Amino acid sequence: MCGIVGYIGKQKALPILMEGLRRESYRGYDSSGIVVLDNGKPVCVKAVGKLENLEKKLQGNQLDGSVGVGHVRWSTHGGVTEENAHPHSDCQGNIFLVHNGIIENYKELKDKLISEGHKFVSETDTETIIHLIEKFFKGNLEKAVREALPLLKGTYGLAVIARDDPQKIVVARLSSPLLVGLGDNEYLVASDPAAIIAHTKKVIYLDDGEIVTLTPDNFFIQDANQNHVEKTVNEIDWNIEEAQKGGYSHFMLKEIIEQPESITNTLRGKLIAESGSAKLGGLELVQEKLKEVERFNIVACGTAYYASLVGRYMLEEYAGIPCEADFASEFRYRKFILTKKTASLFISQSGETADTLAALAEVKRKGGLTLSIVNVVGSSVARETDAGVYNHAGPEIGVASTKAFTSQLAILALLTLFLGRQREMSLVTGQRIVKEISRIPELSRKVLENNGKIKELAEKYKNFDNFLFLGRKYNYPVALEGALKLKEISYIHAEGCGAGEMKHGPIALIDEKFPTVAICPLDSVYEKMVSNIEEIRARKGPVIAIATEGDKDIEKIADDVIYIPKTLEMLTPILSVIPLQLFAYHMAVLNGKDPDYPRNLAKSCTVE
Ligand code: M6R
Repeated sequence: MCGIVGYIGKQKALPILMEGLRRESYRGYDSSGIVVLDNGKPVCVKAVGKLENLEKKLQGNQLDGSVGVGHVRWSTHGGVTEENAHPHSDCQGNIFLVHNGIIENYKELKDKLISEGHKFVSETDTETIIHLIEKFFKGNLEKAVREALPLLKGTYGLAVIARDDPQKIVVARLSSPLLVGLGDNEYLVASDPAAIIAHTKKVIYLDDGEIVTLTPDNFFIQDANQNHVEKTVNEIDWNIEEAQKGGYSHFMLKEIIEQPESITNTLRGKLIAESGSAKLGGLELVQEKLKEVERFNIVACGTAYYASLVGRYMLEEYAGIPCEADFASEFRYRKFILTKKTASLFISQSGETADTLAALAEVKRKGGLTLSIVNVVGSSVARETDAGVYNHAGPEIGVASTKAFTSQLAILALLTLFLGRQREMSLVTGQRIVKEISRIPELSRKVLENNGKIKELAEKYKNFDNFLFLGRKYNYPVALEGALKLKEISYIHAEGCGAGEMKHGPIALIDEKFPTVAICPLDSVYEKMVSNIEEIRARKGPVIAIATEGDKDIEKIADDVIYIPKTLEMLTPILSVIPLQLFAYHMAVLNGKDPDYPRNLAKSCTVE
């Protein structure tokens, strides 16, 4: 959670910081703040609420300084107040810090620091860091930071400046994403490349334990033992337009609508028609090992977890590999059995989700083979796994994951092909899957043509307080995802349920005020879904069906139908989820909610 940005160079820092914070505002939007060294004097301004409130406060404020840091906050410790907003400062107003992460031992540190005379003004865990740095500060900022960090237990991405050592930003990372941008006679620091891409595409992703000192004309990186670290400079492969709304009212809508392109980008160069297989360059290093794998664990959170559930069906049915899928937050604490022939696959849009990273660390500790599907290039999950595949879906800014989900499903289909063809999958089956996957971008474009109809549907249902989402087999995870989308951005109660499970409890909820969204394409479980819809009708529950084009029978039992084109059963989730994304989007907007900034949520959960 939280977004950090920092600038040191020859230009005015303030506009660059504000621009960066705007691009990171999806990471936290309950409060924000900046500090700039203006003619050597720190000027710190903070505001509660969205970034616009900080902008208003700064209006007419001509800060000349060319060193500064800024922050958007998603609160973990302490309420949403200006005192708790970052930057935090020491007792003297000398040192200022922005922080992302959680300091677990902050209470004991704080008690000790108070007993030593330090004055705290916030309820945050973060403030302990700044007083610790103050305690060690004797004129050299990085030295003080270096002495303070070993005393912290927890996670941090942080950037610090000091009035009394003014030509520096000191940056450190432990389990919270941070990168350094290399400009022309200027350096930037950020949680997300989107924050700095207007200034430079050259970035260095920091690893845990690294401490960086940025000055106006140089930088150096050291590890925790003060060894100099040589790092690879990465080139960001997307541009600023891709991180902007491009005329859409919300990022979420833009990201839903651009799915035909994002899926095309995901698939580019990966389908091999002749051999009915997939080329996954990121897995080449481990492809011999993968031949030996007898079991898969897929581990993820939220939407990425629902993608994992779809992947489980794909891998078992077509690659013949037994597969489990787990929430990372559960997996990390259970005693999972890792045989030598198990591969663990971690799926994450951001690549920075704390639970996913912790589960990954546990598998690595046990010596297991680790793979990943990650959208953010250079992120921690991508770097920590043995091999992996990038989504190449472009930056996903909307807090509700949409295009990352369909891209994850597309890669899982490719992985199934790849592993299936290493095993028993026939050439003919492989070729049929390749052919059908290559049609998916076009088919998804056809689904999007229903946008107007789905908006009308949202008009009709916008005042209902509860929804049930039902699906079976491949579309059971889609039901879970549809319910998650609706609840997270419109705050309308929604339950996702395997249709066969409905009779074991959830059916008790059904009456004329409790609509059901039933995902029932013409597939191997269609008849079963029809029976479940009949059960709902018998209890007067309104039904919205997501059905296959040409299925006229469904209109006799459903109140409303949205059609999707026919495709292979294993690929239907990529199409059936799109109407649910649009439905959630329109329900939120029609109810006056901002889908890009759902309350209590942040894009990337970098804390447990
Ligand atoms: O970045 P990740 O894919 O690891 O994030 C996982 C979840 O936090 C994420 O999918 C979350 O559930 C979204 N808000 C769903 O829209």
